[in-house]
Amino acid sequence: MLKDRFGREISYLRFSVTERCNFRCAYCSSYKDDAIAKEPPLEDIEFILKGVRTLGFKKVRITGGEPLLRSDIVEIVRIASNVGFEEIVLTTNAYRLKDLAKDLKEAKLTRLNISLDSLRRDVFSQITTIDKLDDVISGIEESIKVGLIPIKINTVLLKGINEEDIVPIANLTKNENIIVRFIELMPVKGNPFFERHFMAFKKAIEILEKEYTLKKIEDSNHEVANYYQIEGFKGKVGFIASISQHFCSSCNRLRLTSTYKIYPCLFSTINIDIKDAVKNRDFELLRSKFESAVFVKPAGHGEIKIGSKEFIENMRELGG
Ligand code: 5AD
Repeated sequence: MLKDRFGREISYLRFSVTERCNFRCAYCSSYKDDAIAKEPPLEDIEFILKGVRTLGFKKVRITGGEPLLRSDIVEIVRIASNVGFEEIVLTTNAYRLKDLAKDLKEAKLTRLNISLDSLRRDVFSQITTIDKLDDVISGIEESIKVGLIPIKINTVLLKGINEEDIVPIANLTKNENIIVRFIELMPVKGNPFFERHFMAFKKAIEILEKEYTLKKIEDSNHEVANYYQIEGFKGKVGFIASISQHFCSSCNRLRLTSTYKIYPCLFSTINIDIKDAVKNRDFELLRSKFESAVFVKPAGHGEIKIGSKEFIENMRELGG
């Protein structure tokens, strides 16, 4: 297993398998035209997954762009499972999930994270520019049906846009084993959304506490969220406070872009190119690239606030 200079064991890879996306979420927006968006071929993905598993990585998250736009997405999950990852998770907007949930489960996907910022059709369309809330809901229902549980729902907190959705989205945890995570908006380069719409997680807790009693659940290892249970509810709600509370000291992850670059920190532009290692199927070179990436992984990132320079260069490439 790879260990960094600060003693953190690095065992979790977030792998963006495509830059394509069929949504145009207002806060993301660093998207590329689909005509020039890049994605690695399946054979390269197989080499990479085999390689990083050999280096001791145990968990892989498949991200994008929107990973379910790849026609070989089920095969990617199957490869991850065949090479022995203990946890294979995928982040999706759920647009195509209804048709794919069963096959993903059969390919041994462990769990899904679904992005859902509003339960109101007009607000959903306003944020994503796509009028597909119904498909997302059917995707969630189908995933529960095929046993891809617990489902995690990611809701980005947007001041002035989705405050009214916080209680209804938390209500999804009432009867189902659903985990809703409210995420603080992060700054993306060239996008003014952060300045205008950042909402601290404490505000969301305040809104929920007007309706419900929240019980804190003890932190587990490497969790990026603080979890609570609403009294009497089956699932739980969490808050990912990337901005107001860092979780760098327990960070166990590296990110790999669809353009073959390892980013040791979401908020740093430091990156390591592994294209040659992959194209030449050179495992020893791949190993040394990953070792370097782990070596240069910063202890943490600085404070992020309005006007901060620590913004994310390309959310779509990095996959969040
Ligand atoms: N701030 C916070 N979360 C973001 N995501 C995308 N862009 C941002 C941002 N600027 C989230 C999406 C999704 C995951 C892929 O990353 O909502 O849940």
